[in-house]
Amino acid sequence: MAKLFPSICLLILAISQSLIQGVISSATFTFLNKCEQTVWPGILSNAGIAPLQPTGFALQKGESKVLHAPASWGGRFWGRTHCSDDSEGKFTCGTGDCGSGKLECAGAGATPPATLAEFTLDGDGGMDFFDVSLVDGYNLPMLVAPSGGSGHNCTYTGCMVDLNGACPSALKVMNADGDGVACKSACKAFGDQEYCCSGAYGTPDTCKPSSYSQMFKTACPRAYSYAYDDRTSTFTCTGADYKVTFCPPSTTSKKSTEEQQTPATPQFNTGMVYEGADEMENSAPRPYTYIPAVIMVVVMVVAFL
Ligand SMILES: *[C@@H]1O[C@H](CO)[C@@H](O)[C@H](O)[C@H]1NC(C)=O
Repeated sequence: MAKLFPSICLLILAISQSLIQGVISSATFTFLNKCEQTVWPGILSNAGIAPLQPTGFALQKGESKVLHAPASWGGRFWGRTHCSDDSEGKFTCGTGDCGSGKLECAGAGATPPATLAEFTLDGDGGMDFFDVSLVDGYNLPMLVAPSGGSGHNCTYTGCMVDLNGACPSALKVMNADGDGVACKSACKAFGDQEYCCSGAYGTPDTCKPSSYSQMFKTACPRAYSYAYDDRTSTFTCTGADYKVTFCPPSTTSKKSTEEQQTPATPQFNTGMVYEGADEMENSAPRPYTYIPAVIMVVVMVVAFL
C-alpha cells in the first residue's frame, strides 16, 4: 500500500496541473486606450479554437479592459476608429471596420488598412508567439508588452509612431476633412505580386522588402512590414500576460497641415523608451504559476499522514 502513495501523488499532481493549465493558466490581455479618441477594438480568433469573447467593444479614451484568453488561444486584435451608427442603424467604422454592422465582429476580420496584433498562445515548445503587423497596412499606433513571462526575446513590440500624417500620398486614406486616418500597404494600394508576395514572388527568397515596406520598417523596426519579415518581427514568451495599448505614450502625432513638410520616410527615434513597455517588463509573474506546487505539497502531506 505504501508503495502506491508516490504514484498516486504523481497522478493527482498531473491531473491537477492539467486542469489548472486548461482553466486558469492561460494569458490575460489588458487593453488600454491612450488615444485622444474612443477606439473600438476588434477581435478575430483563429478557426477551430474556443473564441475570445467579446469580439468587439468600445474603449473610451483612458479606459482599460481585461480579457482572459482560453487555453492555446490564437488570433488577432486591432483598433477600429471613427465608428458610429449609420442612417440605417448599422454600426460602421472609418478604419478597421469588420463589416458586421454591429459592435461585435462575430467572426469577421478587419478591413485593411489596419494595424494588427497577432498572437498564438502556447504554440511550439509551449511558447506564445506574437507580433504587430503592418502587412495589411496601418491605422493606429499599437504597443504589445508582455509581463511576467520568460524567454530570450520576451519583450515589447509594436508600431509606436503615428504614420497617418507621414504616409505617402499614394497609400494615404483620408477622411472627409482630408486628414490621414490610415495608411495602405503597397500590396493593397497597387496589387502587384511583388508587393503582395504572391505568384512568382510567393517565397521568402523571391519576395524582398520594397521602398514602401522599408518606409514602415524604418518607422516601426519591430513590426512586420511585409509578409516575410518574420526574423525581426516575431516575439516569443512563456507564461506571460499581455498589455495591448492603442496610441502608447511615445506616439508622435502630426497634424495634417504639417504633413506637407514631413518627409515621406518618418524618422524613428531608436533611443526611445516606452513607458508602458518598461512598466510591464518589470512586473511579477502570474500568481497561478505557483498553484501546482502548492497542491503538490498538500497532496504529499495528506499521503504521509
Ligand atoms: C524570437 O525568437 C524566435 C524563436 O526563437 C525567432 O524565430 C525570432 O526570430 C526571434 N525574434 C526576434 C525579433 O529576434
